[in-house]
Amino acid sequence: MTTPWDANAYDSRHAYVFRFGASLVSDLNPRPGEKILDLGCGTGHLTNEIAKAGASVLGVDKSVEMIDQARTNYPQLRFVVADAAKYRPRERFDAVFSNAALHWMRPPGAVAESISRVLKPGGRLVAELGGSGNAASILAITKRNPWYFPGIGEYASLLEQHGIEVVQAMLFERPTPVEGENGLRDWLGMFYKPPLHDDVIAAAEKKLRPILFRDGVWYIDYRRLRIVAKRV
Ligand code: BEZ
Repeated sequence: MTTPWDANAYDSRHAYVFRFGASLVSDLNPRPGEKILDLGCGTGHLTNEIAKAGASVLGVDKSVEMIDQARTNYPQLRFVVADAAKYRPRERFDAVFSNAALHWMRPPGAVAESISRVLKPGGRLVAELGGSGNAASILAITKRNPWYFPGIGEYASLLEQHGIEVVQAMLFERPTPVEGENGLRDWLGMFYKPPLHDDVIAAAEKKLRPILFRDGVWYIDYRRLRIVAKRV
């Protein structure tokens, strides 16, 4: 059984996820009439930004709670609950877009296979995910990494094995502010599934305060992997 998502808290206290994704929509440069798949769309905010450009967009997420919230937020848009690793729609897309989601999806090879299958030849993948070294200070303390944070070489090679050629890749630091005195605690509570024990959370707060808490704000030590790639 998968742990449910708190889609309300995601929208209210973790809005930085889609705020930081806005520049990825610019990289996608959606055009009127294009068919675009938003893979791991969460509560649908970036799906809506893509739709505003006149593209025909479908949002897909494995979480029922996220898709329920996305449908409430944007009843005029199309959303589907599906596991990316097994996703086999009949339609083909001009582009696949994915923000802060691919590191959740497993196994990565099956996900790359699905992306390859849904893209038209020449179609593009524009994606950002946690890259190698993402949240390293946190992982060092919790000693649990349920995510997939690849480096440029590893991910480019994985995509190439599935007929997708990387044309741009960037791995960069983006310390990301999270709201409030309880920001780190909230982040750990929101994203660790299954949840961490309270004593691990308390230890993380204590040890990471000198590193991640500056001027009253917690910064998660994000390292992003941003990819633009083309289906051969
Ligand atoms: C990320 O966006 O890098 C991320 C978010 C939640 C958990 C792990 C990574």
